Amino acid sequence: MSVQTKITGYWDRRADSYQHNQESQAGAAEYAAEWARIWRSALPESHADVLDVGTGTGHVALTIAELGHRVTGVDLAQQMLAKAHHNAATRGLEVRWVVGDAVAPDFAEASFDAVSGRYLVWTLREIDRALRNWHALIRPGGRLALVDGLWFRPWPTTTTKRSGRLWNWRRHRPWIRGSIASKRPVS
Ligand SMILES: C[S@@+](CC[C@H](N)C(=O)[O-])C[C@H]1O[C@@H](n2cnc3c(N)ncnc32)[C@H](O)[C@@H]1O
Repeated sequence: MSVQTKITGYWDRRADSYQHNQESQAGAAEYAAEWARIWRSALPESHADVLDVGTGTGHVALTIAELGHRVTGVDLAQQMLAKAHHNAATRGLEVRWVVGDAVAPDFAEASFDAVSGRYLVWTLREIDRALRNWHALIRPGGRLALVDGLWFRPWPTTTTKRSGRLWNWRRHRPWIRGSIASKRPVS
């Protein structure tokens, strides 16, 4: 079984609990307003084409759609996407949901003004390849907006120190943080 099959299986099994966790928070006005503020500040002003990678149950994609952008959400876990469909219908919002690999999203080069991602990078395989592919999908002057966290404490642990993932994280973290902090155009 490939690493990706294991990762996708994990998220398919987590879909119910993830949906519950996300939707119970999403109902709180302050929580929703804060995420809207974050994405508004990170993305182009209006009516942009945005690809939300690892969209899951769709919280980011729907928040961004509510800001007036045209959003595509891509994920490999179909149980997570089923929740995203449901959440979009409940809120009366339109998002194009696509089953696909966030590492190599199957879209034409320069077909988006921005790529967004929340809580994906930590669980992603082949981060270098993904970053290169996302960069290629973004039109000149566009944005890459990533939000993530260090989910497992204590950090670093002996186990994670030995893994390639931590090494990858260390290498990319300053770059990722820099992109968010400065809202630097990617090209
Ligand atoms: C922690 S959830 C985050 C969901 C959503 N972005 C959010 O902010 O609530 C991580 C998601 O990334 C997806 N994912 C992980 N690796 C992926 C890959 N290679 N391609 C597509 N989706 C992937 C999982 O299926 C899962 O839905």
